Amino acid sequence: MSDVKVYDVLPDAAAKAHINDKQYQAMYAHSISDPSDFWAQQARNFITWFKEWDKVQDWDYYTGKTRWFEGAKLNVSYNCLDRHLASRGDQVAIIWEGDDPKVDKKITYRQLYEQVCRFANVLKERGVKKGDRVCIYLPMIPEAAVAMLACARIGAVHSVVFGGFSPESLKDRILDSGCQVVITANEGLRGGRSVPLKANVDKALTSCPGIHTVIVVKHTQHQPTWQTGKDIWYHEEVAKVSTECPAEEMDAEDPLFILYTSGSTGKPKGVLHTSGGYILYTAMTHKYIFDYHDGDIYWCTADVGWVTGHSYIIYGPLANGAVTLMFEGVPTYPDASRFWQVVDKHQVNIFYTAPTAIRALMGKGNALVEQTSRKSLRILGSVGEPINPEAWEWYYHVVGEGRCPIVDTWWQTETGGILITPLPGATPLKPGSATRPFFGVVPAIVNNEGEVLEGEAEGNLVITRSWPSQMRTVFGDHQRFIDTYLKTYPGNYFTGDGARRDKDGYYWITGRVDDVLNVSGHRLGTAEVESALVLHEKVAEAAVVGYPHDIKGQGIYAYVTLMADVQPSEALRKELINLVRSEIGAIATPDIIQWAPGLPKTRSGKIMRRILRKIAANEISNLGDISTLADPGVVDNLIETRSNK
Ligand code: WTA
Repeated sequence: MSDVKVYDVLPDAAAKAHINDKQYQAMYAHSISDPSDFWAQQARNFITWFKEWDKVQDWDYYTGKTRWFEGAKLNVSYNCLDRHLASRGDQVAIIWEGDDPKVDKKITYRQLYEQVCRFANVLKERGVKKGDRVCIYLPMIPEAAVAMLACARIGAVHSVVFGGFSPESLKDRILDSGCQVVITANEGLRGGRSVPLKANVDKALTSCPGIHTVIVVKHTQHQPTWQTGKDIWYHEEVAKVSTECPAEEMDAEDPLFILYTSGSTGKPKGVLHTSGGYILYTAMTHKYIFDYHDGDIYWCTADVGWVTGHSYIIYGPLANGAVTLMFEGVPTYPDASRFWQVVDKHQVNIFYTAPTAIRALMGKGNALVEQTSRKSLRILGSVGEPINPEAWEWYYHVVGEGRCPIVDTWWQTETGGILITPLPGATPLKPGSATRPFFGVVPAIVNNEGEVLEGEAEGNLVITRSWPSQMRTVFGDHQRFIDTYLKTYPGNYFTGDGARRDKDGYYWITGRVDDVLNVSGHRLGTAEVESALVLHEKVAEAAVVGYPHDIKGQGIYAYVTLMADVQPSEALRKELINLVRSEIGAIATPDIIQWAPGLPKTRSGKIMRRILRKIAANEISNLGDISTLADPGVVDNLIETRSNK
């Protein structure tokens, strides 16, 4: 594409930045020619180790062994808290902005340290030990950060479950990871409405006999159902214990957390991340990609229930002693100017959000942006899905007034941290491109046969060598890790994404090439939605695909075949939508349900999703070869009855 606009590095950004283009080139070359030396230097730079490693890296993309800094000892919470106390104990660590614009709170590093120590002591008193798994099902309140860091402090492995997931999803995650303790709140608040978190936990726990303790943060005045002995109030327990709790010495490869994410098949996988490599990589990427300088106010709008919240609200920023803003609410409450009002209120310098939010706010008009100052903003970030050039331009010119570089950061739950991204003072920008690899990252593009394509090319995105924050395994199922990520293109980590590389070596992520949906930046497996739909007794079969959606990026399009004697109806459509919501959560709500008397299948019975995707996208003039279908007439019927919603 020769007509792509290029935005040169802004002079102010270059002058201030930790890394300019020359430094990027030199550091990148070093990271590739001598990775062990490069990462050892960075590890000494960014992290406080109780003991140094025996070996920097030891990994093998055939057996799925991934080890970084083996033999080293550290504690992640120590790196996020204790080591900052002498120099910045009284500096703000977390600015919390409530759902209600009148409610906010600031917590210093010393206060956070004390809260974490207290809560770690509570966990210990309830019998939580190193290696135990702890489920966190909290709204976006500071206690979520406290709970994560308290687990890290005593070596417990947290599994944060997004507060928007249903009791059913929560139950699956608790059982898979074998948690014994759940940390929740009586209620969450989002956009002025309450979210019944404790009630959801109660429902989930009817089938989780292993849970002996539920620690409940009192966030609203609501009095939840209470089971004495099992349910305990957070505020009562932390008041009883000491503000001192030594940080457990952990091995670099000891697990830090499990985070469930959707794949193309089966139930969500527990992605396991470990300690040393993860905290090094998140700290380093946070500093260089957002060009974080001491005193900057940094705001990532993600939820801690997703990896972005883990790496770039909590771990990376706190390891760097940053001021990190945590926002409980939504971008449109009380009105669609909220983001920019919060930017002004707290003088935010670095702002990191998702394309779906940008598109939604763009649709509300410029006046809501322009009525705010935003003068404090210096850097803008994007994550979660490809950002379309139109949204990029709006973000750059309207929100950033052409003063702020945009870092379009490509990464995944599995990668732990950002892998492909511009650096604000180093990289000329092209709207819609995640640009170049971060230090130590070697992407490649392969065709479906696995042949590596050189130069300008489009195909499947793989990463050819390990980096410190790579996922180590699928919790409890190492074979699934190998099968999912390492088998498709042997010797490489397969991302599941497609990408194009242009003549300047820039990467353009084209989206998932597997059966994973990306709805408003949230990952969902088509198989998960289908499994929920077929639970209904009137449904014989269901096939779910994504289709282009103006705001969400992708919408959910479900083809549903009913049992022989059942008539479709509006009531049934609603029942099915509610079923998916209660099985997975509101994020999985189908946008369109099309009644399908039959689905296009091959003679061996395989559903041809390629055709269903085309019909959903209304690309019916170009269906490709349908001659291998068992009954080509099915396709005509689906086209005729296609929903035009
Ligand atoms: C997509 C979120 C294009 C991609 C951090 C990836 C992106 C999936 C970008 C991971 C980006 C994320 N440009 N696509 N800048 N960032 N993606 O695990 O398809 O929730 O595979 O991690 O989001 O989603 P996940």
